[in-house]
Amino acid sequence: MTSSNPTSRVAIVTGGIGGIGTEICMRLADAGRQVIAVDLATRGERIEAFREQVSVYNGAIRFEPGDVSDFKGCGSLIAHIERSIGPADILVNAAGITRDTSLRKMDPQHWHDLMRVNLDGVFNMCRHVVEGMTARSFGRIVNLSSVNGQTGQFGQTNYSAAKAGVHGFSMALARETARKGVTVNTVSPGYCDTPMVAAVPHDIRQQIIADIPVGRLGTPSDIARAVIFLTADDASYITGANLPVNGGYFMSF
Ligand code: CAA
Repeated sequence: MTSSNPTSRVAIVTGGIGGIGTEICMRLADAGRQVIAVDLATRGERIEAFREQVSVYNGAIRFEPGDVSDFKGCGSLIAHIERSIGPADILVNAAGITRDTSLRKMDPQHWHDLMRVNLDGVFNMCRHVVEGMTARSFGRIVNLSSVNGQTGQFGQTNYSAAKAGVHGFSMALARETARKGVTVNTVSPGYCDTPMVAAVPHDIRQQIIADIPVGRLGTPSDIARAVIFLTADDASYITGANLPVNGGYFMSF
């Protein structure tokens, strides 16, 4: 396998055409990375809008269809990217869904659908990049967790469990790869101005905003800022950490 090239590192972003994912792709490209945005092939109109939006990057950001919940599919996708573009140096797992409802109404489908994307998806992607990264002695993995994985949220037993799981997974993998030049961290967004948060009922959303010390929802750019920090080549001594980006909504030590 070719060794990775610091001047044009390859970055894969799952959920790449989502509310936060697109911003992460653009900021990574600004930082000189070759970016591959991975998202479901079924999001037709959104894919076209994404291609239009990133056309100014002159090919530094490409779209590849992929379903993070499909283990074998993730393997084929990584192999295809590594063959056609280069070894995966940076992986940002930003793909995520909500299936909000109180536990007393939650059926197994709500639980399993969410787990397959939000938690299995992180395993499926990391499993297929980790050997190459350790063999080349360089890797940056950032998994998006959530403030609601830290605090729990009404109606989100599934989401809170998955997002807390993402951080546990990341700490364990960080230990396994620490001596091999690969860092693994989480970024935990608070409530951001995305379609996911726009779907929260208006009154509840207003109450949440009132409880954010900074006084506003986060922006995708607030989150991308943290991802760029953790994926930098010289961010080599930060691993197994969680970086909360929540406007002070949840402060911990
Ligand atoms: N705290 C306390 N009580 C609450 C409550 C809350 N946050 N939300 C609802 N309730 C109460 C209701 O007033 C109602 O009370 P009564 O039965 O006395 O009338 C009862 O709980 C409703 O219970 P249900 O079992 O009927 O709840 P539901 O299945 O209809 O679910 C809900 C309600 C859809 C989950 C709604 O509460 C909701 O949307 N909450 C917001 C969830 C949320 O914040 N999701 C975050 C999405 S964004 C994201 O996840 C990104 C990120 O990382 C931050």
